[in-house]
Amino acid sequence: MKQPSAAHHISPDDIAPPNALEQRIREIERARIARDLHDELGAQLTGLGMVLAQLRENLEKDRVTILAQTEYAQQLISQAHDSLHSVIDDLYPPVVEFGLPDALAWQCAAFNRQSGLACTFSPPLQHLPQSLGSDDFLTVSLLRILREALNNSLRHAVARHLRVDLLIDDQQLQLTIADDGQGFDPTTASGQGHGLRSMRQRAHLLGGQLQLDSVPGGPTVVRVTLPVAP
Ligand SMILES: Nc1ncnc2c1ncn2[C@@H]1O[C@H](COP(=O)(O)OP(=O)(O)OP(=O)(O)O)[C@@H](O)[C@H]1O
Ligand SMILES: [Mg+2]
Repeated sequence: MKQPSAAHHISPDDIAPPNALEQRIREIERARIARDLHDELGAQLTGLGMVLAQLRENLEKDRVTILAQTEYAQQLISQAHDSLHSVIDDLYPPVVEFGLPDALAWQCAAFNRQSGLACTFSPPLQHLPQSLGSDDFLTVSLLRILREALNNSLRHAVARHLRVDLLIDDQQLQLTIADDGQGFDPTTASGQGHGLRSMRQRAHLLGGQLQLDSVPGGPTVVRVTLPVAP
């Protein structure tokens, strides 16, 4: 893990209190994490406890039952591991350590594998400016925007192909996620979920803008633009 340098030390006075919308989104995320922990890890641990209790009872009896129960216990441990990794990934994706371009490339490849939808990533031609190279907050924010946009395309777009482009020049950084799906009317979509709102909010927290272009029957393009300090 990278340690924050002393030059970037943040005192509590520097942190603005969250506004009502931010607080609401935080509570929704915390509730989801709590639900995941309860439903998945909780159920797996309960199952594991029951298997161990039965194992003790059966120790005197037949080997076949004990073998089957041991295998089941191993399955539960492996599922609990998967749940743990998924909660960790939601809290703070380990792939952030790769740095921005590689984290986004990894996400596109993982999406490709998991969804079966073609997703092409074009890396930037220019290196990330040094000021942004080690900015984990930037990487995690853009990764979450990308994940939400990819999920939206998967769930709502009936798309065949997605393109993700990361452009960097001396003035700005631009992340574009485009699908070739059925589109929608952005003026009537707000309020249907919290994904679009939280993408916009993340872009603003980075000091940038999120632009959403879509019409029913046309492609959908999500573009985040951030100014880059020299
Ligand atoms: N790429 C897309 N193609 C077609 N429709 C989309 C696309 N992205 C968003 N939409 C429409 O915009 C609505 C709002 O999206 P938003 O991400 O805010 O919510 P959601 O995906 O429905 O739920 P949540 O993200 O909270 O799980 C969606 O319900 C869908 O109708
Ligand atoms: Mg969504």
